[in-house]
Amino acid sequence: METTPGIRHISVVGAGYMGHGIALGFALAGYPVRLHDRTDEILAKALAASGEDLATLVDAGAIEPNRVTPTLARIHPTTLLGEAVADADLVVEAVPEELPLKQALFAELDALCPPGAILASNTSTFPPSELAVVTRRPERVLVAHYFHPPHLLPLVELVPSPATSAETLEAVRQLLTGIGKQPVIVQREVAGFVANRLQAALFREALAIVAEGIATAEDVDAVVTSGFGRRLAVLGPFAAMDLAGLDVVLRVMERLVPEIAASPEVPPLLRETVAAGRTGVKSGAGFRDWPPAASRDVRERLARALVAIAGWSRAQPDGTDRHREPD
Ligand SMILES: NC(=O)c1ccc[n+]([C@@H]2O[C@H](COP(=O)([O-])OP(=O)(O)OC[C@H]3O[C@@H](n4cnc5c(N)ncnc54)[C@H](O)[C@@H]3O)[C@@H](O)[C@H]2O)c1
Repeated sequence: METTPGIRHISVVGAGYMGHGIALGFALAGYPVRLHDRTDEILAKALAASGEDLATLVDAGAIEPNRVTPTLARIHPTTLLGEAVADADLVVEAVPEELPLKQALFAELDALCPPGAILASNTSTFPPSELAVVTRRPERVLVAHYFHPPHLLPLVELVPSPATSAETLEAVRQLLTGIGKQPVIVQREVAGFVANRLQAALFREALAIVAEGIATAEDVDAVVTSGFGRRLAVLGPFAAMDLAGLDVVLRVMERLVPEIAASPEVPPLLRETVAAGRTGVKSGAGFRDWPPAASRDVRERLARALVAIAGWSRAQPDGTDRHREPD
């Protein structure tokens, strides 16, 4: 595996749901990673979660059992931000989605990191300009938006601000490509970038279908997972439209576009469910009940399916291990 010139020391700040998996992705690829969060307890939980993720990969036949210990050993936890980023070439920030928090952190990172370090945010919504503005290195700031579970899903949306340099974008693109990710460059700083705009359109219609009594939440899920959702893992919407025939798609759209949800309001069904305390797997119930065994099961099923789709196996087709140490 090629290492990206200039990027050898990687730090991840925020070791929660996303941060621990982002760090794990680099560690699986052979990179040592410094992982920073506020307390030793949170970091211990992050490492335990990474250990469970690795155990699932072993069970799914994606990695050899002897890869687990060295991979975990590449993740260096620390509660000291200065220590975490002192020699960083790249910092990936994954703290909660609050702009003042992220801005304060970016200002601190700017002061603590070497001058050449690239600062990337895993923000889901904020434009990189709003983070670059608090630093003295706007040309080295960008968004690198991962998808959960980040050690398994290849997509990373790279969003430059108008100030981000071409070299910065290219260095991060090369690094991610080198570890088996599939970065996609988003040309403009728009809310939701690309993936979350597409998902929001699907979620809005799904909520409207249930609210209008057309189908149950369970049946909507079944329609997607047993139908066009399977195709979507292979064909994106444009390839799917081409395959169906654009004349056919045109007739369907002429009939349906006036019918489907188009309200600018957040769907009331979603607001009501959250207000009732049903926030999903994390609270034990959302649109369905999630006892602990069911939530473990769904995470494992997802991980196994993603491993299968990615075609990860212990022996890669070319006979090499995709995650060997950088040369
Ligand atoms: N959850 C998702 O599916 C998802 C997907 C893509 C992007 N994101 C984005 O990733 C980011 C993190 O989301 P998450 O779901 O991992 O959140 P999370 O709450 O699970 O994790 C955030 C972590 O940041 C830590 N933290 C808070 N303040 C800190 C500070 N000042 N310094 C260091 N660490 C600090 C917290 O202790 C926590 O461990 C958000 O910007 C979110 O929008 C989330």
